[in-house]
This record gives sequence, C-alpha cells and structure tokens, in this order.
Amino acid sequence: MNNFTFFAPTRLVFGKGTIGNLATLVPQNARVLMIYGGGSIRKNGVYEQVTKALNGRTVFEFGGIQPNPLYETCMQAAELGKKESVDFLLAVGGGSVLDGVKFIAAAMRFPASDPWDILAKGAEVASAVPLGTVLTLPATGSESNSFSVMSRKSTSEKLAFSAEAVIPRFAILDPQTTFTLPAKQTRNGVVDAFVHVMEQYATYSVNTPLQDRQAEAILTTLVEEGPRLLAGPNDYDTRANIMWCATQALNTLIGCGVAQDWATHMIGHELTALYGLDHAETLAIVLPQLLRHQKQTKAARLDQMAKRVWGITAGSAESRIEAGIVRMVEFFESLGMPTRLAAYKIAPADAAAKVSKRFVDRGTTLGEHQDLTPDRVAAILKDC
Ligand code: NZQ
Ligand code: ZN
Repeated sequence: MNNFTFFAPTRLVFGKGTIGNLATLVPQNARVLMIYGGGSIRKNGVYEQVTKALNGRTVFEFGGIQPNPLYETCMQAAELGKKESVDFLLAVGGGSVLDGVKFIAAAMRFPASDPWDILAKGAEVASAVPLGTVLTLPATGSESNSFSVMSRKSTSEKLAFSAEAVIPRFAILDPQTTFTLPAKQTRNGVVDAFVHVMEQYATYSVNTPLQDRQAEAILTTLVEEGPRLLAGPNDYDTRANIMWCATQALNTLIGCGVAQDWATHMIGHELTALYGLDHAETLAIVLPQLLRHQKQTKAARLDQMAKRVWGITAGSAESRIEAGIVRMVEFFESLGMPTRLAAYKIAPADAAAKVSKRFVDRGTTLGEHQDLTPDRVAAILKDC
C-alpha cells in the first residue's frame, strides 16, 4: 500500500428534511452569500427551505452559475462577496454550483491579481472563505472533497484545482431534493460516480484488498441501483442509495494508498471544453476505449472486476476482460447514455487531433504510469 493522508472534515447531514439543519450549521452571526444555479432550486422548493432555515441572518444571493461553471460568472460573485464583506458561502445545487463556490471562496481571498492563476498556473490557495453546501445532484462528490473544475469562456478551457481550504464545512444531502432531476441528469450522476471509482480502481494492484472491495461495493451498488432509479425515479430509497454512492465514490476514501489514473477525466474535460458535452457524457465515451488500449497494464484489475463486479468467471483472462468492458458499455447504454462520439456527430479524427494538440502544447502525459502521451490519447480518441 502506498503512503497516504486521509482528511475528511466535512460534516455530512443525510436524509429527509435535513435542510432545516442549516439553522444551526451556518454560523449565527455570519454574513452569508447564498449561491445557486440557473433556477432549479426555485422550482422544487429547495430555495424556500434554505431561506426559511437562514431566517434572521444577513443573507445575500447570487444566482446563475452555469453547468460547467464559468470563471467569468464566478468572478462576479466574488466581487459581490467582497463588496458585502460576506464571511460564509452557501452553495445550493449540483457539482457545478459547488465547484463554482469553491473557486469563489478562493478568489475572494486570493492576493495576486488574477485568480485564474489557481487553475492555469497551480497558484497556491493559502486561504478561502468558509463554505457549506446543500447538494441537489448526486454525481461529482464535490460536496465533501477538495476539488473544483472551472471553465473559461474566453479561452474554451476547462481546468481543475484542489485545495484543502475549499473543502466544505458541511454538506446537506436530502435525497428528496433529487426527485426533480431530469432523467438525463440522473443518468449523468450514476455514470460520473461509476467512473470516479474506476479511476481509483482500474489501475494496478499495490495490495489493497480493503480499498478494492470498497470500490467494488460502490460499483456493484451502482449497477444494481442505477437501472432501478431510471425505472422508478420517485423511489426515495433508491435516490438515497445513489446519493450515498456518489459521495463515497469521490470523498477520497477508496483512493487511499492506491494507484490512480484520471486520464478519462482529463480527456473528458477537453471534450467538454471543445464540444460542450456534459461531463458524464464524455466519460462514457472515453473510458471503454481507454480500457481497451490499456488492457495490458490494467489486466489484473480488469480481470478482478470482470469476476467480482460482473460475475464473469469462465474463459481466458483476456476474454473475461473484454466481456467485462462490453458489460460496462451495456450498463451505460441501459441508462440511456451514449458511448460513442458519433452520437453527438463528432468525428473521432477531429477530436483526436484537437485534444492531442492541447496536450502537446501543455506537455501533458496521463495515466497511472504516465504512459499516455498525446499520440496515445489520439489513438484512443480515434477509436471512440
Ligand atoms: O443550474 P440549475 O438550474 O440548478 O440546474 C442544474 C443544471 O442545469 C440541474 N439540476 C441540479 N439539481 C437539480 C437540477 N435540476 C432539477 N432538479 C434538481 N434537483 O442539473 C444541471 C446540471 O447540473 P451540474 O451541477 O452541472 O451537474 P453535475 O453535478 O454533474 O456537475 C458537473 C460539474 O462538476 C464537475 C464537472 O466537470 C462539471 O463541471 N466535476 C467536479 C468534480 C469535483 N468537484 O470533485 C469531479 C467530477 O469528476 C467533475 O469533473
Ligand atoms: Zn467526474
């Protein structure tokens, strides 16, 4: 097992009617900036629940954080926060709102001129305004991790940062808030969580039987509960199970001491930046072909997954691995998630050329062995 530090300071408050807990979770004398997205929370009663729980506090509001949150918009929120001297940020929404608020929290305290340096140059986030979250879309794990992914309209870039200072103080997880998710977003969430586990699991063994089984437990649960959720979106227990899976998929616990990949995510971010696909849509396209290209170095893990997650025990290791990848593709497709660029009328050769050029320009190599050079990324995308 590799060395690791596990730091998970977020208080998770899970279940029906838990938004009312904001009354005690948000500091009493705080000047709060409540930040949300395009308006879903105004249609499903979440906005009312939040404002009621914050009654009596000084609360400012900023709405309009876009999916794939834009730097340009978040800088406006940071300006408002500074102007009103707010000292607590409350994110209410999906991963995009949460990620945007993490960036705003860092930008408000960033000493240099342009906070974009946090993303483009890896500038240090020494401090951030404290933040809490009310999650309405289980998918990213952003509610209890240190990561944020930001997009910049003017340059069509999508870049990530990680900082301890932006880990949420608390996350309210009320599965009832997810009943209003469109099927597309529900599906996206299941696939994103599944791929988060894969990035931390489908690599090579460093003898971590506990983490392996924790990862397999999440994968197996998603495979069981995902189709159930799409068939019965109003079932509370299924919503709750998916929500808890998504949090655990990227709260960094299963990643302790193991080799991690994240190439699918890095390639996917470029596809979102270049073509506007949803985050999870990019992952469902890239992961199957990436696994096929990398099946030599990932063989032991993929065979273990074929046996333990898909129950494939017959045949050779090679045939089990391929059958497991086919089962994964069928699982994605069964949720209504396309797995080919053609579904979005994108030519694989075009994606291969554009994405690999960006990686050449940035000197990026990817994967748990850092063996995915821009050329090899291009080869993967040509097969997508
Ligand atoms: O903006 P509103 O009106 O709220 O609508 C949103 C948005 O249009 C809607 N929605 C959210 N909750 C809803 C709802 N509609 C009805 N009922 C509800 N309860 O759903 C749409 C998509 O929301 P978004 O937040 O964009 O989705 P998601 O949670 O999938 O977040 C995606 C973003 O997170 C990043 C992605 O790259 C992408 O930018 N990620 C963040 C990670 C992290 N911080 O750890 C890791 C991930 O790998 C990912 O990269
Ligand atoms: Zn993801």
